[in-house]
Amino acid sequence: MISRAVELIKKSTEPVVFTGAGMSRESGMRTFRGEDGLWNEYSPEQLSSISGLRADPEIVWNWYKMRLMAGEGVVPHAGYRALTYLQRKKGKLPVITQNVDGLHRLAGQTDVLEIHGSMRTASCLNKCGYATELAIDALKNIPPLCPDCGAILRPDIVLFGEPLPHEIISRSYRLAEECDLMVVIGTSVQVWPAAGIPFAALDRGAVIIEINPVQTELPHSDNVISIRRKAGEVLPLLVGLKEKI
Ligand code: OAD
Repeated sequence: MISRAVELIKKSTEPVVFTGAGMSRESGMRTFRGEDGLWNEYSPEQLSSISGLRADPEIVWNWYKMRLMAGEGVVPHAGYRALTYLQRKKGKLPVITQNVDGLHRLAGQTDVLEIHGSMRTASCLNKCGYATELAIDALKNIPPLCPDCGAILRPDIVLFGEPLPHEIISRSYRLAEECDLMVVIGTSVQVWPAAGIPFAALDRGAVIIEINPVQTELPHSDNVISIRRKAGEVLPLLVGLKEKI
């Protein structure tokens, strides 16, 4: 299975990568679902929705502060480095990610489409135009307020109840429809419209290489090669950075 995946990656002329929270698990970030998933412990309706932010900004910002602190000092693992290597080797490899942790860019990757936004910046909830980098230092007072108009700030993450950034999601679907190979890593493929991206690729005849220790919503099919292992172990093998399995 690994050798077939290696060959497909080598031959692919229009590859695309699609990642989720499991991509960052071996860097120390928690996933949302599954065994130690954040949503087992916390409520997405309260903490990750636009109505939750308006109802109780303090509780929501304390949660984001906790997540920012969890992300402090986190560095991309070997799987990220393998993707960076592959992107440089191919010359072109768009990376569509649901992750907001910024690790793809930190690993040196370009053409990263953050379809759920980024945890690294914040902006005015009242859309007065104020935007800022988000660091823990800026969160001494919670909720943080817009210095220009006094409204509360919001993290630049897509919250439940909000549309995805139009241009980014449109380009992601276009890439899915035009690619010949999609490498799908560390996502449960449960949150729409993001989850539709690999299905759009399959519908147009692309092959999927899935890297995930557990089964997901992706179908069993000749066009889906499911490697039930961890991203940090497998990606270096797939791009030829390690010889043994
Ligand atoms: P999930 O938490 O739903 O799924 C993470 C997946 O990663 C699971 O299928 C795990 O089996 C897999 N996984 C765990 N460790 C792994 C490893 N080392 N290597 C490979 N895979 C591994 O995360 P997402 O699918 O990203 O939305 O969740 C989608 C969205 O739901 C998130 O973007 C977030 C959340 O609510 C927003 O914030 C808008």
